[in-house]
Amino acid sequence: MENFFAEYRTIIVFLHVLSGVVWVGGMVAMRYAAHPSFLEIESPAKRLERIAHALKNLFTIVVPFVIVLLITAVVMIMGYGLSHSEHAILAHAKEALWVVMALNLFAMIYRRNKAQKALEKGDFVLAKDQLGLIGKIMVPLNIALGVIAIFLGASLSGSL
Ligand code: HEM
Repeated sequence: MENFFAEYRTIIVFLHVLSGVVWVGGMVAMRYAAHPSFLEIESPAKRLERIAHALKNLFTIVVPFVIVLLITAVVMIMGYGLSHSEHAILAHAKEALWVVMALNLFAMIYRRNKAQKALEKGDFVLAKDQLGLIGKIMVPLNIALGVIAIFLGASLSGSL
């Protein structure tokens, strides 16, 4: 693995950084650029429908990058020998952040799917309840955790 990593290090780090950028950047764009604009739509049905649709697009884009992020992280852990180095604590902290962020993401996908079904049945109260938590808590939480993961990545990259 060390040889493989030495040969493809640039592309692996590039894919890792790109995945972090798309995952965290996608959530920032959705929450703070698109979401306030959706809230201007007067019809509650149309508004919830557009939010559910945009979230579906966002999740479809980010899931492959979440997987690439993990694969590249595992390759770097092995390639840099992080588990047995002085940087092990930072690497483990980033692993924990990935796990919490991924669980939060899959919980969001579950809630969005539930909201979609509620919308199809005309149950706007349930749909609003399911989508509301995603916008108020779950996406901001993942943005905050992602920013911490990027900061830890910057301190790792400065000391490897
Ligand atoms: C799954 C566990 C993770 C591990 C083991 C890990 C490991 C690393 C390592 C070793 C570097 C330095 C690479 C180098 O300079 O050669 C790095 C950088 C980076 N990581 Fe992670 N990472 C993980 C998760 C994440 C997550 C969840 C995000 C964001 C969502 C992320 C975003 C970044 C970014 C943006 C950089 C570049 C920082 C810079 O070069 O200044 N990583 N990571």
